[in-house]
Amino acid sequence: MPVITEIEDLKRLYRRRVPKMFFDYCESGSWTEQTFRENSSDFDDIYLRQRVAIDMAGRSTKSQIIGQDAAMPVALAPVGLTGMQHADGEILAARAAEKFGVPFCLSTMSICSIEDVAENTSNPFWLQVYTLKDDAFMQNLFDRAKAANCSAAVITVDLQLLGQRHKDLKNGLSAPPKLTPKSVANMMTKVGWGLGMLQTKRRFFGNIVGHASGVTDPSSLATWTAESFDQSLNWDRIRQFRKMWDGPLIIKGIMDPRDALEACNVGADAIVVSNHGGRQLDGALSSIRALEPIVDAVGDKIEVHMDSGVRSGQDVLKARALGAKAAWIGRAFVYGLGARGEQGVTEALQVIHKELDHSMALCGHTDINTVDRDILMVPKGFAGDWS
Ligand code: GLV
Repeated sequence: MPVITEIEDLKRLYRRRVPKMFFDYCESGSWTEQTFRENSSDFDDIYLRQRVAIDMAGRSTKSQIIGQDAAMPVALAPVGLTGMQHADGEILAARAAEKFGVPFCLSTMSICSIEDVAENTSNPFWLQVYTLKDDAFMQNLFDRAKAANCSAAVITVDLQLLGQRHKDLKNGLSAPPKLTPKSVANMMTKVGWGLGMLQTKRRFFGNIVGHASGVTDPSSLATWTAESFDQSLNWDRIRQFRKMWDGPLIIKGIMDPRDALEACNVGADAIVVSNHGGRQLDGALSSIRALEPIVDAVGDKIEVHMDSGVRSGQDVLKARALGAKAAWIGRAFVYGLGARGEQGVTEALQVIHKELDHSMALCGHTDINTVDRDILMVPKGFAGDWS
């Protein structure tokens, strides 16, 4: 077994083990992928301030995320099709998160259903929902989340329509995968992945098939998906969703201070500064650049989290220092899952935790909760002054 010392190690193994169609789904941004690339590369423009001769013993990365205890300020982001990256992927990722002590957020577009994950884990998890037109389906999702004891709902507000990812169209992405000569030839080389998939019964979108009216198979699902996203979404509609769910609510997909203030008015408990991993508006600012003006605008009205581009503990530390109470990781845990199942997700979390803990110490802090902007050296204009 190769030794894992960084997230890139897991990505290399992941690429070898999983069919190209699903690797490409994960590793794509929309259109030119500018925002997808800059989400990560913009972290490199932020420097950490090294301090010395400060007692580094007895460190803690323990955090509170929407009032819930976490081992570090990190959450596993909702990622569609996770159960296609590895058989029963959502269950395995949720278990790894639970053992490590960080929140796991299940996507509506997951393969394992809410009930599958609830039955196979012990701790409450979060459920992500899209803003769909079908009220009955939305209420049903919230009710199922309640019955499964989910400890937060996450409403994704940046997907009224889908940003185009060229590779998904060219690969004919679907779940289960379409069997074309090309996809079959590629899958034949992914023996471990294929054996896992043959052994599980979970190969469809478990939250949707059999729950949304008229959706019984993958082709009716495709039609349903295309027709269901609510292009006419507005803040009043989001207020209606707030009424459908009385637990903690997180709004994900905020990139502008004005929208952040709207989210505060809806009564959400947290917002996630996110451009959907660079998968929606190509040409949008990276999330890490968008973060600070939003933190400044909302003050202590709401908890601010961020996602998109986070691949290391240093990234988490920088996001924390710029005011994010939590950094969500998507691709970084999917690499681990695809590479080695539950163990790979644990390894991804261990790598990030060690990087976070050591970097925090080398910046002169022993408690993640005392970290602030003072540990950063950020070029003037990094966070904007955009006209
Ligand atoms: C769905 O949310 C996706 O980004 O594919």
